[in-house]
Amino acid sequence: MPKALIVFATRKGETEKIADIIAEGIRLSLAEVTVCDVKKIKSTEDIDGYDAYVFGSSTYHGEMMSAMKTFLFLAEQVELKGRAGGAFGSYGWSGEAATRIFDTMKNIYGMNMVGSPLMLKTVSVEGGLKAAQAYGREIGEKLTA
Ligand SMILES: Cc1cc2nc3c(=O)[nH]c(=O)nc-3n(C[C@H](O)[C@H](O)[C@H](O)COP(=O)(O)O)c2cc1C
Repeated sequence: MPKALIVFATRKGETEKIADIIAEGIRLSLAEVTVCDVKKIKSTEDIDGYDAYVFGSSTYHGEMMSAMKTFLFLAEQVELKGRAGGAFGSYGWSGEAATRIFDTMKNIYGMNMVGSPLMLKTVSVEGGLKAAQAYGREIGEKLTA
């Protein structure tokens, strides 16, 4: 069974909710999904060994949360080239974090990314929920392709 790791950084929990719904979408492809708060990742061993990776952070003052920046430097030490990837984040009006994470995964790690980052204000409305589920399915399709 393929395995996916979702790592999120959040201040008030909105990005964690998106992570949980993306996980549901990936599980539809019968993949095993681990959802993890970035604060719990301590070493490269916590990152290595998955077939797909989805990283997310909300945006504050035009940037991703600092814990996600630190995590991205740690993830650089893991061989992620060619693995399936996606990026997401909750935002209020500009939402830079998701795109910054997506671009790092694509350009630095050389991952096999889905079409675009997922930027959502919330999953607490119908459209947001469906978009997050669909994003998970898109990643799942890369695992079963
Ligand atoms: C002090 C502050 C600064 C923020 N800066 C931005 C910003 O630059 N761009 C943006 O799109 N949203 C910004 N937001 C909105 C948050 O990204 C939004 O509330 C998001 O849902 C928080 O998600 P989280 O609970 O996962 O941290 C800001 C919010 C606060 C409180």
